[in-house]
Amino acid sequence: MKLLLVADGDLLRRAYFKDLSRFFLCKLTEMSAASAADLSKADLVLIDFDRATPRAIQHLKAAASKNKSLKILCIVTKGDRWAPAQAAAFGQVAIFDRENGLRSLISTIRDLFAAPQFDRSRLQHLDRDVQVAFGKANDFLNEMPFALTPESDFPTRLMMQAATSVTDALHEKGIGPWVGAVESHHSHTYRHSLYVAGLVTSFSQSLGWNRADQYTMAAAGLVHDIGKTKIPLAILDKPGKLTNSEFDLIKKHPVFGYEILHERQEVPDEIKHMTFHHHEFMDGSGYPEGLKADELHPMVRVMTICDIFAALTEKRSYKEALSPRVAYTELMDMGGKLDQSLVRKFTKVVTAVANKDVGGSGAFVKAEKLKSA
Ligand SMILES: [Fe+2]
Ligand SMILES: [Fe+2]
Repeated sequence: MKLLLVADGDLLRRAYFKDLSRFFLCKLTEMSAASAADLSKADLVLIDFDRATPRAIQHLKAAASKNKSLKILCIVTKGDRWAPAQAAAFGQVAIFDRENGLRSLISTIRDLFAAPQFDRSRLQHLDRDVQVAFGKANDFLNEMPFALTPESDFPTRLMMQAATSVTDALHEKGIGPWVGAVESHHSHTYRHSLYVAGLVTSFSQSLGWNRADQYTMAAAGLVHDIGKTKIPLAILDKPGKLTNSEFDLIKKHPVFGYEILHERQEVPDEIKHMTFHHHEFMDGSGYPEGLKADELHPMVRVMTICDIFAALTEKRSYKEALSPRVAYTELMDMGGKLDQSLVRKFTKVVTAVANKDVGGSGAFVKAEKLKSA
């Protein structure tokens, strides 16, 4: 889903443009520089007429007239009669009053894209408990990016409902059907959080941890990359090689996550630790703090193993997915970076993932029998 944001003047100063870039793949363009080709590449064109000059509007109209099937959303200010008239001149367009705020703008855009977040037909054959847990986890992930500032409420209730449902569904059905459900999602960012949530829950179950700890792990799996919601999707989903500064920004996500969560009393401390430290290694070579083994809680160690395994077995635009067996070998090859006694115990989960043929779009590799891992 590509969004083209068109406005006159200093686009980046518009705060909501920056916010939108965390939710959608966005490109910005000056109204007077918008080309017919740019407009046609977008799934939705969002035009802000605020302070636009007649000349720039004329230019945009000419560019837009070359493609009659453009989907256009115009941002206007209530009481401004001029902007809606300008918007109407573009033909059939949707109008959005900027005073309705970001949350409303995002749901308007999602409606206009008319693209479902996941493929329901692929869920239909799955167990009902798994479908319900998947729906709740998705609802929580939809809410999570709105909770970036200390003034905003964190959706704790949704998080715990999702964590409980995921834990219960996995307890009954194992991780196989969960992996099938996760694969139906169209966003790789969502798929990753959902997949990690399944892996850490399944791992904590196989380690015999109590139910409360299993809930904590499921919730932490969903939340652990919350810091990435501060980073534009155009960087997170960039198909080509990242620049050094983009890579440095992505590496800040555990710190961003900590900043979002640390003052929230309602979020359990273990979830904050896992969010902050899931990229640390036992030998001190991880980030952001270079902590060592005795400073890393067992929950953090479990999260790190599952996060790496998920990343290795997921297909990304810049790399192919590894099979569970090969990914597991990589975990063993990481030696002292990971808690190898836990890696050995992770075999059970890897076998369960590998023995489940999840099929489909290739978001995960077709599972293969894990004989020796
Ligand atoms: Fe991460
Ligand atoms: Fe992650």
